[in-house]
Amino acid sequence: MKRTLGVCYYPEHWPEEVWAEDAARMVETGLTWVRIGEFAWQRLEAEPGVLTWDWLDRAVEVLGEAGLSVVMGTPTATPPRWMLDKHPDMLAVDAEGRPRKFGSRRHYDFSHVGYREESRRIARLMGERYGRNPYVKAWQIDNEYDCHDTTMSYSDVARTAFRDWLAQRYQSTDALNRAWGNVFWSMDYDEFDQIDLPNLTVTEPNPAHVLAFRRFSSDQVVAFNKVQVDALRPLTDAPLIHNYMGRTLTFDHYKVGADLDIASWDSYPIGFLSDRLEGTVAEKQAFLRQGHPDNQAFHHDIYRAVGRGRLWVMEQQPGPVNWAPYNPAPLPGMARLWAWEAFAHGAEAVCYFRWRQAPFAQEQNHAGLLRPDSGAAPALAEAAQVAQEVQDLPEASAGDAPVALVFDYESAWAWDTQPQGADFEMFRLAFAAYRALRRAGLSVDILPPDCDDLSAYKMVLAPGLMRLSDPLRAALARYDGIALIGPRTDTKDDELSMVLPLGPNLPETDVSVVLTESIPPSDSVALTGGGAFLHWFEHLEGDAPVRLATKDGRPAIMGGANLRYLAGWPSDDTFDSLVRELAQEAGVETVPMPEGLRIRDTDTHRFVFNYAGQAQDWNGTTIPAAGVHWEALS
Ligand code: GAL
Repeated sequence: MKRTLGVCYYPEHWPEEVWAEDAARMVETGLTWVRIGEFAWQRLEAEPGVLTWDWLDRAVEVLGEAGLSVVMGTPTATPPRWMLDKHPDMLAVDAEGRPRKFGSRRHYDFSHVGYREESRRIARLMGERYGRNPYVKAWQIDNEYDCHDTTMSYSDVARTAFRDWLAQRYQSTDALNRAWGNVFWSMDYDEFDQIDLPNLTVTEPNPAHVLAFRRFSSDQVVAFNKVQVDALRPLTDAPLIHNYMGRTLTFDHYKVGADLDIASWDSYPIGFLSDRLEGTVAEKQAFLRQGHPDNQAFHHDIYRAVGRGRLWVMEQQPGPVNWAPYNPAPLPGMARLWAWEAFAHGAEAVCYFRWRQAPFAQEQNHAGLLRPDSGAAPALAEAAQVAQEVQDLPEASAGDAPVALVFDYESAWAWDTQPQGADFEMFRLAFAAYRALRRAGLSVDILPPDCDDLSAYKMVLAPGLMRLSDPLRAALARYDGIALIGPRTDTKDDELSMVLPLGPNLPETDVSVVLTESIPPSDSVALTGGGAFLHWFEHLEGDAPVRLATKDGRPAIMGGANLRYLAGWPSDDTFDSLVRELAQEAGVETVPMPEGLRIRDTDTHRFVFNYAGQAQDWNGTTIPAAGVHWEALS
């Protein structure tokens, strides 16, 4: 596969006269892909059953004739207003019981059978129309599942579907009562139809009930996506893609990804830094116009796993966005750096969002490659520069990472349900581990929780997995590198109850978590040798050797040569020294990275990215602020 660039375009927003000029300018910039269609349902079907294809036919023709390849989006994230008259109960309902109304987007309930049918119908019609069109070379299904918190709905249709789902999973209410421990507060059910959704209870609902609802909600997304996959597959040979989001864990992306050909995601580094990442004021200040130096990398790596090796960035921030609390402009060079970083992590395509800034409606303050008056916005020249540069390094490649991090969505739901400490969150824990690996200059693969082979890696981290899957447990038993698992790993069963005998139950490693403590930000657990645990600490027992202890003599890491259990959440400095020591033992070379400088190795090249606001030295080469450098690996 080649490294390519693209852009998101909305022909329905602009007079038809400018399409050809826009297309020519895209080609002149060096773009290959143009994504269209994903919000255009009303323009395609203004009345139920009355389809108007001619404008989209012409748009595809104009773009294709100019030399562009089209990514066709199915428009199911934006059902037209008439859809509500046809299906008045299709709106999702929030946890407070309020319907989420028409007037923006994503106003549908994943469980609504009628809306699923409508989605199947429009996907099939689009497939019939464009599935063999020579210019349509990829498909995007829907747009950003869960955007605007839309995975979970507390509607009547969701309740009915949830009861069916429960009946299938547990077969009898006796089995469900036992599995959930409903004896606890006389919460037993006699019939599945008595079971409600787990909102608006007096105090916290049974965690097993919540986890079941989270699994159900995730399965509804998977099923909704699959309906469109099944409609399109027979009609096209082009790859099917979804565009996932950053730090979104409400559905199992691996399961959605299993039905698709490529995983793409929408990368808004500056928006994410201010909107959804923890960090000190100083960090947020230092990377205000660049984004967090590890956030994009983490998502590239996780979505490469979701895409089983095939990764795109479907939307790349080009300038200020409109939706974060504050929306500064990127440093000059960042629109180029972000694209190269995606390529270094294996992306085949990076598409900027969007072509021209729209002077109307919700996103009028969101930059594009062009200004609203069609003048060039700063990112246009940077995109053109990347398009030139990829000609020298055309082949997409992710390379073989020496280190892996296991990441699991179910565990995220488990810890959301019973965090036990206000700041215990799966993304945060996994990201802390990932950042430490990156500060050590390591390239990382992210693995799903049911992976059955670790032999390609010298070192594996598996923090926070509520339970080990059978394949992963077997892979760990065979593993001859160094695996550090925990905290909180393999301590629960499938229903979020504690396992007895107390977990983890590790192959040939006698260690159990006998008590857990969460730690407020004002406190920490000091370790011998100077480090500390924050947020979380587990008291361990067992015969396995103690490899690190707390200052007051409790085990902090226990285990043998290959498999070790970590009893707490290391501070950043502690993670750094742990990673350094483990890597040395495992025979992995580390490179301590200066603040803001990050590297990623492919099979052939080492890429160096400068996220810092000032120039930095890299082995005698000066890399300017927002600069990218690459060198061939020998
Ligand atoms: C994405 C979305 C786009 C657009 C963009 C703005 O979340 O997929 O349609 O809204 O954000 O940054």
